Amino acid sequence: MKAALKTKAILGVAFFTSFVLLGSANSDAAPPDAVAGKAKAQTCFACHGENGIGISPEIPNLAAQPALSITYQLIQFRGQQRKGGAMEALAAGLSDQDMRDIAAYYSSLPSPPPQSGNAEKIARGQQISNTQYCNSCHGAQLQGQKHIARLAGQSPEYLVTQLKNIRSGSRVDMDGTMGSAARGLSDDDIEAIAAYAASLK
Ligand code: HEC
Ligand code: HEC
Repeated sequence: MKAALKTKAILGVAFFTSFVLLGSANSDAAPPDAVAGKAKAQTCFACHGENGIGISPEIPNLAAQPALSITYQLIQFRGQQRKGGAMEALAAGLSDQDMRDIAAYYSSLPSPPPQSGNAEKIARGQQISNTQYCNSCHGAQLQGQKHIARLAGQSPEYLVTQLKNIRSGSRVDMDGTMGSAARGLSDDDIEAIAAYAASLK
């Protein structure tokens, strides 16, 4: 079980790495520029905040998200592989360079404050996260890495929605690894994991 998930994690990263390398090999991309990114992100501030903290529970925090994760989600919204929150329309006008710059800006911000919650639920969420190896991909403290999202300090309401969407297949993930990770989770598991992740710094 553990070995199978680890293999999946490695395959997922390898798949994504080749995707990114292919993408960058034939473009003359400038290095990501967080200062330019801040200027380009003005339209995003109305919902995601200048500090990268969403203004309401259904809007995700972007502060301290790995830059590749932000970029890849924006590419998916632009291509309409992922839909939600009018993000398809907002991403439609962004170039690859805009996305990399904006991602550099948001990823450079201080991480969101941990959120308090029901202690029993949080402990159960930690247990599920360990037994399901969520941290093998999302990092020991669910802080995210490479193209894999930060879950620590994220809005629990947002996490619940996304996990249900990924479980049902209404949000299609890039290589199916996250889909299979979510498939075995009950609604209660999802609520507990969301409370745990939100409580992390
Ligand atoms: C009108 C409010 C609104 C605006 C403006 C907005 N967003 Fe969003 N954004 C959302 C919502 C809501 C979601 C969650 C969508 C879903 O349910 O899947 C989201 C999701 C995202 C995600 C996915 C995060 C993750 O953890 O997967 C990224 C990245 C993102 N937005 C970046 C941006 C950027 C960059 C801009 C500016 C160009 C922007 N957003 C403008 C509301 C907004
Ligand atoms: C094999 C690696 C892997 C494992 C194991 C894994 N994830 Fe993921 N997760 C991903 C990837 C990759 C994405 C991005 C999916 C996409 O949009 O293409 C993701 C996305 C997510 C998202 C959406 C985040 C956002 O900001 O929108 C949530 C929530 C999530 N995972 C929770 C979990 C939980 C909870 C577990 C354990 C039950 C888990 N993941 C296990 C790789 C993994």
